[in-house]
Amino acid sequence: MILTAALVVVACQSGGKVPVYLNPDKSLEERVSDALSRMTIEEKVAMTHAQSKFSSAGVPRLGIPELWHTDGPHGIRPEVLWDEWDQAGWTNDSCTAFPALINLAATWDRDLAYLYGDCIGQEARYRKKDILLGPGINMGRTPLNGRTFEYMGEDPFLAGQMVVPYVKGVQKNGVAACVKHFAVNNQETRRTATNSVVDDRTLYEIYLPAFKAAVVDGGAWAIMGSYNLWNGQFNCHNKRLLCDILKGEWGFDGVVISDWGGCRDDDEAVENGLDIEMGTWTNGLRGAASDSYQNYHLARPYLERLRNGRATEAGLNDKASRILRTIFRTSMAPDQHFGSFTSPEHFAAARKIAAEGIVLLKNNGTLPLRVPQDGKILVVGENAYKMMVVGGGSSNLKTKYEVIPLDALREAFAGKAEVIWERGYVGDVTTDYNRVLTGQDLRESRSAAKLKADAVAAAKDADCIIFIGGLNKSNFQDNEGTDRQDIVLPYGQNELIEALAELKRPMVVVNISGSPVSMPWAGKVDAIVQGWYGGSESGHALADVLTGVVNPSGKLPFTMPKSLADGPLKTERQFPGIREEGKEWWQEYYDEGVFIGYRWYDTKKIPVDFAFGHGLSYTTFELGKPKLSRSKVGEWKVSVLVRNTGKVAGAEVVQLYISDDEASVARPAKELKGFQKVYLEPGQSKKVEITFDKESLSFFDAEKHEWVAEAGEFHLLVGTASNRIAGEIPFTL
Ligand code: BGC
Repeated sequence: MILTAALVVVACQSGGKVPVYLNPDKSLEERVSDALSRMTIEEKVAMTHAQSKFSSAGVPRLGIPELWHTDGPHGIRPEVLWDEWDQAGWTNDSCTAFPALINLAATWDRDLAYLYGDCIGQEARYRKKDILLGPGINMGRTPLNGRTFEYMGEDPFLAGQMVVPYVKGVQKNGVAACVKHFAVNNQETRRTATNSVVDDRTLYEIYLPAFKAAVVDGGAWAIMGSYNLWNGQFNCHNKRLLCDILKGEWGFDGVVISDWGGCRDDDEAVENGLDIEMGTWTNGLRGAASDSYQNYHLARPYLERLRNGRATEAGLNDKASRILRTIFRTSMAPDQHFGSFTSPEHFAAARKIAAEGIVLLKNNGTLPLRVPQDGKILVVGENAYKMMVVGGGSSNLKTKYEVIPLDALREAFAGKAEVIWERGYVGDVTTDYNRVLTGQDLRESRSAAKLKADAVAAAKDADCIIFIGGLNKSNFQDNEGTDRQDIVLPYGQNELIEALAELKRPMVVVNISGSPVSMPWAGKVDAIVQGWYGGSESGHALADVLTGVVNPSGKLPFTMPKSLADGPLKTERQFPGIREEGKEWWQEYYDEGVFIGYRWYDTKKIPVDFAFGHGLSYTTFELGKPKLSRSKVGEWKVSVLVRNTGKVAGAEVVQLYISDDEASVARPAKELKGFQKVYLEPGQSKKVEITFDKESLSFFDAEKHEWVAEAGEFHLLVGTASNRIAGEIPFTL
């Protein structure tokens, strides 16, 4: 054992002997139980609730540091005041902004998820944060969910595969990933007052698998309970979710943290699996005096219960052990390092991930852009200019810099072509979020008609038009706390796109959003690109794809429907919920069951604009005939040869879907059960192998409470999008 200065001090204090809890050579559990044995009840209770907006207590007397929590999934949030949401005004907290998680999901690349987690973990460690409040992996049940951009799409398998390496990457740095929001929290509307009524089959098949993967395969050290209720109980202290499923069935040994202000009940907070209560104010969600953390459910009321015998010390020890475990895994980990912050490597990673997730939805050859020397490129749209790292709710960041698409395009075409910009419409003029300022001035004096006319006039002598619009992070768009109201593009953008398309110039539409939008003009433009909130390097990433420096390889992690009405949520009881007599909370019925996203559109044969898993490339790929073999007992392998038949290097994502030809329950037409991204030089071929097992064939039988694979016929569908299946293999179980 190496005696650090801190240990020497403690060793001196304790008569020359280093206590077990401080001894890095001792096992985690030995350290935990030793620390626990030295603590008073008051010290243990102090750990179970917030002491400031983003910290919970350690044990100062024993030299055990407090836990520092930080948002969020896309970068390390700037410092706020101890007990206020206002900025602390630090000048050393401008981070690397990584792409939104939906952008990461669109890469379908597990290695990039690991890279992302590793980089953000290093940033968290440098900023002395122990718990990263993310990633978010709630399912895309409705395209309207304001937080879709913070999640990983509509498919539990894809989200599960991407979250595991993210968690491992973060935790490698001695930072706990706090996977959120557990569970069935799929809308922002009345998020703190809505009871999600979901049957067990739907829960286990759609809403739990990504969380299970994060815990069981990713080894996540923390979970955040969500604001809503599930089956009548708030999820921050939902007995079935936290005690029975998370800590019981999945054996989770980490810490359960409430969403901020999500804890609502004294009894349940103590009994039902919550370990740390965090808050927006100090009295649930209702607001209270400042600095009165003693009023938290798990503070003074908890202590009183313990003193008068209405709560057990064994229960408290369980919570305290989990918290100590988290501290020993993070700030007091034996091999703890210091992390790194805003390094060139982090910005490079952000750029790579952003670019790899950009999805080429349509291309008739206009992309990559070819413009004559000294030609003129007209860029139209607010999102070419507006900074997007700021805003959106708790994932709001202060970044060291943000490259906007317009500047990146000017940089890319410097000396080759002139890039001019017309705003075309006014969307959101905010440049300040929670006092993080972008420094842009987005005020506009022209009328909507004038803005449109100016754009059309500028287009007349342009060699090509690049429209860069979409959504932003203001209220009722891609934003925490509110949901969108439709999937139609706002601010008259559809009309503007149509007007520009009529000019018959080569035209590319770039939609920057974190959630699906309808594209009624899709047939009238030459190319369509789905960009995302790409973080600090978003502009460069987009320019890289438009110019062909990067060959696009992203695939949609959600369906792009033609209209909201086509989707599975038809009634108010499904979304956003209804009020029922005699019931305290809004009720939201998941009547559609397992049929969300492509599971719905495929099964009902409803045409969509762009399907789940879709994404084109500047090259072409050919898939050979898929072959099936048995890899070991209960596991099979599908292999397929993929060839790059075009002229540039690129990547394709081979996707394995399984359909159950006949089942005793209604099953989706197909479900994603495997995928692999493969990089190929022109002319190169590689064999891709995807394994699957009995669970891949199963549905969840709620009565038996187990996964059931029924004997009979299935089809293994191998393709490059959910609607582009290149080969099928009949399969009999
Ligand atoms: C959000 C969480 C976030 C927390 C702390 C809550 O309102 O739902 O995702 O981590 O605030 O900012």
